[in-house]
Amino acid sequence: MKNELVLVLDFGGQYNQLIARRVRECNVYCEVHPYNLSIEKIKELNPKGIIFTGGPASVYGENSPLCDKEIFDLNIPILGICYGSQLMAHLLGGCVEHAETSEYGKTPIIVDNNSLLFDNVSKETICWMSHTDLIKEAPNGFNVTAYSKDCPVAAMENKDKNLYAVQFHPEVAHTVEGMKMLSNFVKNICKCSGDWKMADFAEKTIKEIKDRVGSGKVLCALSGGVDSSVAAVLLSKAVGNNLTCVFVDHGLLRKNEGDEVEAVFGKDGNYNLNFVRVNAQERFYSKLKGVTDPEAKRKIIGTEFIRVFEEVAKKIGKVDFLVQGTIYPDVIESGLGKSATIKSHHNVGGLPSVVDFKEIIEPLRLLFKDEVRKVGLELGIPEYLVFRQPFPGPGLGIRIIGEVTAEKVRIVQDADYIYREEIAKAGIDKTLGQYFAALTNMQSVGVMGDERTYDYAIALRAVTTTDFMTADWARIPYDVLDIISRRIVNEVKGVNRVLLDCTSKPPATIEFE
Ligand code: XMP
Repeated sequence: MKNELVLVLDFGGQYNQLIARRVRECNVYCEVHPYNLSIEKIKELNPKGIIFTGGPASVYGENSPLCDKEIFDLNIPILGICYGSQLMAHLLGGCVEHAETSEYGKTPIIVDNNSLLFDNVSKETICWMSHTDLIKEAPNGFNVTAYSKDCPVAAMENKDKNLYAVQFHPEVAHTVEGMKMLSNFVKNICKCSGDWKMADFAEKTIKEIKDRVGSGKVLCALSGGVDSSVAAVLLSKAVGNNLTCVFVDHGLLRKNEGDEVEAVFGKDGNYNLNFVRVNAQERFYSKLKGVTDPEAKRKIIGTEFIRVFEEVAKKIGKVDFLVQGTIYPDVIESGLGKSATIKSHHNVGGLPSVVDFKEIIEPLRLLFKDEVRKVGLELGIPEYLVFRQPFPGPGLGIRIIGEVTAEKVRIVQDADYIYREEIAKAGIDKTLGQYFAALTNMQSVGVMGDERTYDYAIALRAVTTTDFMTADWARIPYDVLDIISRRIVNEVKGVNRVLLDCTSKPPATIEFE
């Protein structure tokens, strides 16, 4: 049986995934597609509702993304967000103008509670605005259902045609009652019952993989991160001994991490997997020698990872299937709509080009991170692995600013280990989304035991976040910072200063490179 579907059409906004995420929080399955998806394809997908995302364009721009006007006559409820709302107004004969005052950030709006979209929402509520154009006049047949000080049409609707539009972003946490609004759209307006449940995902997927793979040989790149671990365990339940897991230690892992991953998945672990560990540290360090540009470093690590992996695959012999721990945000990030590329993300298991696999299996392709975690728990993977904080594919390579050397890796590993140990001791690890030490490329003068030192500064990064798209810097108590700073300077050779990163995302990113 097919699940109810809400379609998100991506007009290039940075929050497109978040919208899909929020819809799924309502237990409604949601997919993101490019804005120019054809009317035929939309009819074929037969969604219960459509959401237009925001985006950086203006409806009057030369190359601005437009949609086919026919979409408004399909009798499918549509919610336009930000640019999506302006587009709806523009195409249906309303008036969109450049705003005299562009609104950015938390903004109070007054809503009309008779609107189904604002059912149970406070009359005056805070929302997140981020726009330079605005709807000056709603099209004929539309009612204005919300306004702010500078925005005459903060929301509008044509109830008869099931068309709704909001100038603000209901999907971000700063819109205090945004989740209620999206739920109202999905449940009250699109009439979705909420039939997307994780409980039977694992069972269904194992059966599908069994049918597809038969007695074929399967290879999986395992990093020890939650995505590849869950993918590996799913596969091993489906194909048993025909699966081989390859763990590449690129020398950019956290302290002891290689051994920890081997302990869980290796021959003494719980999973009875064919586990191959490749110690490729020196190989990566030599490729990274002298390279300082962040994107160049990312590309070298990604490419070298694939080369090592291919070599192992060739040794293992004829492999029919390759498993990748791709999750839904990776699918969306790799090239829908028109969002700007901020960093080229590398996930362990990027696609090898040389080795001849028949097919790729991506069992988690449709899931968001927290959904993957739920599956992991259902499969009996230990909680400490399932709830591990994210660790990027390029590892410490992007937490060492400038050139990577074995010595710098040692410094950042030791500092990070102390940092994590003290955060856990203070009992605040669960309150933080992600935290790690990074090695700045800065050396400065210090004094230790009456001697002058000229050593590195470690930066402590800690953020709170729900989606990793935006993040606030975490307020770790001074007493805890004090212990961490003293221990790092005393115990980690080569460090004489500890700095705290108190920048949110945006404008900074979570990682340093
Ligand atoms: P940024 O630095 O972009 O990070 O704010 C957002 C989240 O993504 C993680 N990250 C990566 N994960 N491969 C990954 O698998 C990568 O290349 C990569 N770069 C960043 C980062 O740790 C944070 O959780």
